[in-house]
Amino acid sequence: MSQPAPYACHVFICVNDRQGQSKSCADGGSPDIRLQLKARLAEKFAGSQVRVSQSRCLGLCGEGPNVLIYPQNLWYSAVSMGDVERIASDIEQLLATPQGT
Ligand code: FES
Repeated sequence: MSQPAPYACHVFICVNDRQGQSKSCADGGSPDIRLQLKARLAEKFAGSQVRVSQSRCLGLCGEGPNVLIYPQNLWYSAVSMGDVERIASDIEQLLATPQGT
């Protein structure tokens, strides 16, 4: 069964941690970045319009921390805590823009 996405924007943040065996997004602080981004987006968007989910490996480990946004199909790499506000602002702009424009 398929259905339309229940969220206007779904953010996935890789929190994979390889415990130092090889580079992973957790090395760059992605668990804390996820919490900060989630809190920031909760301030901006009430209800269930935006969902923030943690993910396991997204495949570009060497470029992490990685953040993926659907259905807008945006990918952020080498994300740091300092990027949280910019990503939140990008999402705000995306959702303010009517789809198809
Ligand atoms: S560990 Fe995050 S993309 Fe692979």
